[in-house]
Amino acid sequence: MATDEMPGHWYDAYELGRPGYPAQVVDVAELAPSATVLELAAGSGKLTRRLSSRFAHVVAVEPDRGMRRLLAAGCPGVEAIDGTAERIPLADDAVEAVFVAQAFHWFDNEAALAEIARVLRPGGALVVLWNVANGPVVPSITAVEELLAPVWPQDFGLPLDMMSGDWAPNAWSLPFAERTFDPICDARLPNPQTLDPEGLVAFFGSMGWIANLPDEERRPLVDAIRSHLTAAEYVLPWQTRVQWTRLEASQ
Ligand SMILES: C[S@@+](CC[C@H](N)C(=O)[O-])C[C@H]1O[C@@H](n2cnc3c(N)ncnc32)[C@H](O)[C@@H]1O
Repeated sequence: MATDEMPGHWYDAYELGRPGYPAQVVDVAELAPSATVLELAAGSGKLTRRLSSRFAHVVAVEPDRGMRRLLAAGCPGVEAIDGTAERIPLADDAVEAVFVAQAFHWFDNEAALAEIARVLRPGGALVVLWNVANGPVVPSITAVEELLAPVWPQDFGLPLDMMSGDWAPNAWSLPFAERTFDPICDARLPNPQTLDPEGLVAFFGSMGWIANLPDEERRPLVDAIRSHLTAAEYVLPWQTRVQWTRLEASQ
């Protein structure tokens, strides 16, 4: 994903159409509400809003200016700063936890893990999460799926096998992580999302493989998607896959 600025229509569609995260994700690592927490690749703030309602001090790092604008507008009280996972603009031992939602697969895993280990206090938590599909949209959107089949990517670049839900062996540089972090814990949380037709249009419109098409191709495609969505609302049965660990206390 580009770390400069994406076309303007993309940000609002992302915020409107993409799923958020279940409330329990902020509790998996049993952190105190007084904790200082860092979120990397915070995007428009979907997880950040959960974190800021739970923790005293939240710092959100996001390299994309357009995303950062939405983040700052939607998350007052959060420190929203420019930076990347490979170059985190914080001091050593600055935070008690690092959260990453739907983004670790964009990082240079080893460089990011080394930076995360640097900014985490010994014993601090790393929580990594992704929303993955967990069944068909209800009611069925077969007509939209058929329409999109020719442009639907074969590989979403996610670190999970979409059929089995198993982690890919290199999900986040496990050999490196295991030298620095405690054994990794794993949870699956239901995270159904209900969207009206415009929300579902936005969901598809925020996908890079549609958002980045030239306007003269993108607009008719989005209109065609809209024309097939005649129900009042749609349920997308996401499952949030969470993995968390702690920096070894001796680091
Ligand atoms: C799919 S979005 C996820 C946003 C948000 N975490 C969420 O769950 O909605 C991926 C985000 O990763 C950011 N990103 C891409 N490469 C990055 C990097 N190397 N370091 C930090 N953020 C990065 C992008 O700018 C984008 O906002």
